Amino acid sequence: MKKRIVSGIKPSGSLTLGNYIGAAKQFVDLQNEFDSFVFVADLHAITVPQNSTELRARTYDLVKLYLAMGLDPKKTTLFIQSEVPAHLQLAWVFTCSSYMGELERMTQYKDTVLKNKVKQLPIGSGILQYPPLMAADILLYDPQIVPVGDDQSQHLELTRTLAERLNGITNQDIFTIPETFKPKQGARIMSLQEPTKKMSKSDDNPKSYIALLDPIAVSVKKIKSAVTDSEMVVRYDVEHKPGISNLLTIYASLENIEISDAQKHFENSTYGEFKTAVAKTVEIFLTELQNKYHALNMDTVNAILDDGRIKADAIASKKISHVYHKLGIGRF
Ligand code: AMP
Ligand code: TRP
Repeated sequence: MKKRIVSGIKPSGSLTLGNYIGAAKQFVDLQNEFDSFVFVADLHAITVPQNSTELRARTYDLVKLYLAMGLDPKKTTLFIQSEVPAHLQLAWVFTCSSYMGELERMTQYKDTVLKNKVKQLPIGSGILQYPPLMAADILLYDPQIVPVGDDQSQHLELTRTLAERLNGITNQDIFTIPETFKPKQGARIMSLQEPTKKMSKSDDNPKSYIALLDPIAVSVKKIKSAVTDSEMVVRYDVEHKPGISNLLTIYASLENIEISDAQKHFENSTYGEFKTAVAKTVEIFLTELQNKYHALNMDTVNAILDDGRIKADAIASKKISHVYHKLGIGRF
């Protein structure tokens, strides 16, 4: 039997090149080899306030982007998290079996707390409960592998801990313990303006990220105005040359080559020539992606999502019944 992968992305802003290189590209590459489940994490998106019209539009955008990137509904079960109720049913089990200390230790939680304190905003309790829901998303499907970018490693570790804890409580292997799969290169694409920070769709400075659906000319300009350094040698050195290293990573990932080969390719180039080449690669990638995205219509997307919901729900509802039974929840 094929091994299984599960992963998702939140529809909480425009998808960036970081999301693609760090996560979605892996979903596409792995779907040939694995039984693949990919979803839109809309319930995770509402851990921070959302505008309802925008949330629904971005949910569709994300599905269309998944398809435009190359997810094939024949190989990947594509669905919306909120349409499979077992995600929330199992999330409660993990809410109850996780500890406050564990949840408060999560970097993503701590960052949000800090950010909201500065902005004098309240901290929604959903942010704290984010990892138990994520554990449920994963463990419902018993995947061997979960492809994610670097920033999700800690949540994956907690998922493994919660799975082991539940297996221990029930004295049975109810859950498969999943491995984290990170891309060999590009697990952390950095901000174009502050290359020691990760590229993020929630960054206040739009010049710091490439949004996949932005006008292509805007993205080309962002690459050309990316922060570099004064050494004038195209060399991969994250510590001393974070900006150039980030552009080399973007180039190598989109060209499907090794970073060392990209470096060799540009060893005699000026920064200007190098940036022009990276911008061209980004332009070609985005043009193809956006053309495919615009060619998708609502009926096609809805049919794929219906199919995905049915397939995901069949597995997830069976699993939650089994888990509830093992935990003594409900009738004989
Ligand atoms: P999110 O947008 O937070 O739902 O993230 C979706 C996926 O994209 C996760 O697997 C993240 O680890 C990945 N991701 C987000 N930002 C980056 C980045 N700057 N570089 C690499 N991967 C990223
Ligand atoms: N938390 C992930 C992120 O922000 C998105 C996500 C939700 C996810 N559930 C998941 C990723 C399950 C992998 C598996 O990137």
